[in-house]
Order: sequence, then structure tokens, then C-alpha cells
Amino acid sequence: MSLVIREARPDEAGLIVDFICELAEYEKLRHEVVASIGDIERDLFGPNPRVFCDIAEWDGAPAGLALWFYNYSTFRGRHGIYLEDLYVRPAFRGQGIAKGLMARLARRCVDEGLGRFEWWVLNWNEPAIRFYRSIGAVPMDEWTVQRVTGAALDALAQG
Ligand SMILES: CC(C)(COP(=O)(O)OP(=O)(O)OC[C@H]1O[C@@H](n2cnc3c(N)ncnc32)[C@H](O)[C@@H]1OP(=O)(O)O)[C@@H](O)C(=O)NCCC(=O)NCCS
Repeated sequence: MSLVIREARPDEAGLIVDFICELAEYEKLRHEVVASIGDIERDLFGPNPRVFCDIAEWDGAPAGLALWFYNYSTFRGRHGIYLEDLYVRPAFRGQGIAKGLMARLARRCVDEGLGRFEWWVLNWNEPAIRFYRSIGAVPMDEWTVQRVTGAALDALAQG
């Protein structure tokens, strides 16, 4: 049994969309996914990409992904890593694949002198939260996410 974690390749945009949809299904948010293969090709594999993806292969089979980008902390005066998606297919779980994906991003933080590694998790996703506790993550209970989208975004843009 062998685990390989590597950067996603341009010909894997379809696989990445599949992973995104499987994760959204698990999160009961499949109806919110509108991202296309073309979107992923443009944003991950076009010129000067600002979002990145690592793929985990188990014995050569695609098993999971970590999709991430750089954010910035003014308090720390350092960029950090924001993890957008972490997903391991059910058949491959419990073998250290997610831990491997997270360790690779943690190493990138250390190697690049980044201040933070962070992400969101749904409150009901207790299995993932247990996993995050096991790797040393702490919850930011005093913060809530704010979002402007759709008609509210248009209205705000029009002043
Ligand atoms: C959460 C998830 C990414 C974990 O992936 P995984 O590859 O099974 O996790 P690992 O095998 O790397 O687990 C690493 C460690 O966490 C522990 N762990 C993993 N899942 C756990 C769970 N559900 N409950 C308790 N502990 C767990 C493992 O026991 C292991 O501990 P060890 O190092 O002491 O052996 C995977 O279950 C998944 O994709 N879930 C659905 C999607 C999801 O919730 N994504 C996160 C959205 S924020």
C-alpha cells in the first residue's frame, strides 16, 4: 500500500470537480455547486494561478484532495494558507491520507515562513472536527463568518 501526495495536473480538472461535488454531497450542499471543469482549468491551471490543489493517490488511485490558497494576516504581517476543501473518498479513509495532506500543507507553512494554517468546518461535522483536534487545530469560537452574495452583493456594489 502506498500513498503519494503531489500537485494536481491540468488534465485532472474533471477529477477535482468530482471531488468538489462528492464533498458538497457529504456536506448536504450539492445544490450550491456551480463550478465547472472550465472554471477549475482557468483558476488552477491558467497563467499565474492563485489557488492550488494537492492530490492524494493510494496505490495509484485518486483518493482525496486538499485545495488551498494564500491569505494574509495583518496582525502577524505574514501570509498564511487557507484550506478551501479537504476530502478523502470513503473507501480510503482511516489510513492517514488526510493527515498526509494536512502535513504537507503544514510543511509548506513552515518552509515559507507563513503565519497560519486555517479553514472552516460545519458545526455538525463531528468526524472532521475530531480529526482536526487530533492534528492540533483549535476552534475559533469567538468569530463568525460574514458573507455578501447575490442580490445583496449587487446592491452593495451599486452603493
Ligand atoms: C475528515 C476526513 C478528511 C479524514 O480523512 P482520513 O484520511 O480518513 O483521515 P486520516 O486517516 O488521515 O486520520 C488521521 C487521524 O485522525 C483520526 N481520525 C480521522 N477521522 C476521524 C474520525 N472520524 N473520528 C475520529 N478520529 C478520526 C484517525 O484516527 C487518525 O488518527 P491517528 O493518526 O492517531 O491514527 C475524511 O473523513 C473525509 O473526507 N470526510 C468527509 C469530508 C469532510 O468532512 N471533509 C472536511 C470538511 S471541513
